[in-house]
Amino acid sequence: MILNIGSLNEDWVYEVPEIVRPGETLPAVARQFHAGGKGLNQSLALARAGASVRHVGAVGPNGKALIEVLRDSGVDVSGIRTRAEPSGHAIIQKDRAGENAIVLWSGANRTLEISQIQESIGALAPESWVLTQNETNGVAEILTIAKTAGMRVAWNPAPFMTECRDYPLDHVDCLIVNEREGQGFSGATEPREILRILNERMPRALLVLTLGENGSLASVAGEVIFEPAAKVPKVVDTTAAGDTFTGYFLSALMRGNAVTEALRQATQAAAICVQRAGAAPSIPWMRDGLFL
Ligand code: RIB
Repeated sequence: MILNIGSLNEDWVYEVPEIVRPGETLPAVARQFHAGGKGLNQSLALARAGASVRHVGAVGPNGKALIEVLRDSGVDVSGIRTRAEPSGHAIIQKDRAGENAIVLWSGANRTLEISQIQESIGALAPESWVLTQNETNGVAEILTIAKTAGMRVAWNPAPFMTECRDYPLDHVDCLIVNEREGQGFSGATEPREILRILNERMPRALLVLTLGENGSLASVAGEVIFEPAAKVPKVVDTTAAGDTFTGYFLSALMRGNAVTEALRQATQAAAICVQRAGAAPSIPWMRDGLFL
């Protein structure tokens, strides 16, 4: 069982010829609405990869549809509260190459209460996994409460903010970052240098650095493992690829797989995700025979 304390967003996706530049006005060629949020996406990826997952978060009075998306994929939604504040939302520009730029409005995602976090973690069996990202309030508290309660803590600090450097990093058992987040933490730009610096700061943690089309690296007790990216005929939309990777990676670890195998499965799943449009709808199911 994994407890994921994270965001739920309404994603408005605008298809644009190219990402809009400062001072420019650009008509979108199409608009779609999907469920999203890094928290929701990662819970879906965990569940669709076969993990038992409970989501803790908050939505607004209009947030029933977001909860239903999680429930439909088998996520335990008993930890989601409804607040007066509207649900979080994201305005996503998606260009012809499938790359995106995202503006986030946090809304109800920033109304988590410490008591809600304490109660949800307190209800777990010892050594359960607790996962969080960086789209809710209370992230430093989540890391501390989870570790103090004897849980295994996984953190995907996305989107990165400089204050993350001052969070209690020694409480983290598994850190999953992309290149930009890794650079933000370490100040380095070269991937193996990023990992080396992160390993100095978090020597106990399993570190994973995703590099998009350049694959991914993991550092296990200082030993570095490389997994190449899967070949993809056409990238449609990269939204939620990192979330899919995170959910599948942790699910594979929870099933007792070695880090190399977990990286392989996460890479395969992310490769399927980028060939589909949207966040929640693009996250594959393992039962569809993904790794056969
Ligand atoms: O990681 C993708 C997600 O980032 C989107 O679904 C959007 O909601 C933003 O949170």
